[in-house]
Amino acid sequence: MTISPILPVYSPVNINFSHGKGIYLYDVDGERYVDFHSGIAVSSLGHANSRLISTLKLQGEKLWHISNTYNIPAANNFAEKLINNSFADTVFFSNSGSEAVECGLKIARIYQNGKGNKTRHRILTFHGAFHGRTFLTCATNDKQKFSELLNPYIDWCDNIEPNIESVKKAISSGIGVILIEPIQGQGGIKVMNEVFMKELRRLCDENDILLFFDCVQCGAGRTGKLFAYEHIGVEPDICALAKGIGGGFPLGACLATEKAAKYMAVGMHGSTFGGNPLATSVGNAVLEELLSPGFLKNVEIRGKYLKNKLEDLASKFPIIEEVRGKGLMLGIKVKADNQKFAEELSHRGLLTVGVTSDNVVRILPPLIITEKEIDEGIEILTQYLSEKSSD
Ligand SMILES: Cc1ncc(COP(=O)(O)O)c(C=O)c1O
Repeated sequence: MTISPILPVYSPVNINFSHGKGIYLYDVDGERYVDFHSGIAVSSLGHANSRLISTLKLQGEKLWHISNTYNIPAANNFAEKLINNSFADTVFFSNSGSEAVECGLKIARIYQNGKGNKTRHRILTFHGAFHGRTFLTCATNDKQKFSELLNPYIDWCDNIEPNIESVKKAISSGIGVILIEPIQGQGGIKVMNEVFMKELRRLCDENDILLFFDCVQCGAGRTGKLFAYEHIGVEPDICALAKGIGGGFPLGACLATEKAAKYMAVGMHGSTFGGNPLATSVGNAVLEELLSPGFLKNVEIRGKYLKNKLEDLASKFPIIEEVRGKGLMLGIKVKADNQKFAEELSHRGLLTVGVTSDNVVRILPPLIITEKEIDEGIEILTQYLSEKSSD
């Protein structure tokens, strides 16, 4: 047998981590790594966070799982806190980002059918988009990246350029929901234009189309606001959240307004694990930390500091073409193979995300990072760039 024990859909870097603390990871040989990767924007409070450990232990000793056929107080508290700090009136808990997006797309379909808009079945998405790996979320993605062997894709999606003229043309064809990441993550840290986002909101309101923000990567405080849409003052009808909100515990959430979720009823959606006591206790603790005084401000300050440092490097090393992003959701576009770039950096002790479109290396440190720790990562990056430019 030649197939690997893990389905061969990943190509992992050959480093074996044994543990982590704060923004550092350690491998089995005791080598230390600066983590500007965070498990792709997940470890928002760093590794082995003492509050999350005690929450997990406390809840672990009481009750792990009960099923949504009973009330789950931790889930209720968590949902209320999300509602009190967002546009939303109701929340569905899932185990991943893809599931949160799937839930939102079902809400949108049910809304349009419920209203009698029976020809509004299509989903509008954008070039560079990444919304997940389930069958439907694959169909919402910018398809070039995916295997032709997955054909036929679910044919409910139109993927267009993110500009308002293209949207105006596309919405006449039965669009019921517009799905967009306010900042594209896997697409290459692309911040959507504010005027475009405001126009999208206006077009959605005029045409009774639901606006769905995928904040799976750009939510949970990563940009210095709890949700990236807060920077532009445009609220969605539906929003998907995951990754950083669990701090490493598998957890997703789909938030919606009462209007969008108006036709949702018992049995139309559900999950065995989604919202269980263990996951929602941890999620609640993460959210409380994110909302604690000064936390998000600090993300903004550290983000600016890190971005300045990266821009400095871009001015010295032409291999960096551009620095992009907001808060601690940053990316450098490199004139090199970005995956190889990130892999070589990881062997020098700095972890970044190379699996990104548009030749971007994503820089997504834990949100608790200090200036000194940023300097440490920048030092490794500087040395690597110096070596590369003298090649
Ligand atoms: C914006 C966005 N949406 C959805 C997903 C899918 O999340 P998951 O991998 O948890 O299913 C991702 C994952 O990278 C993402 O970045």
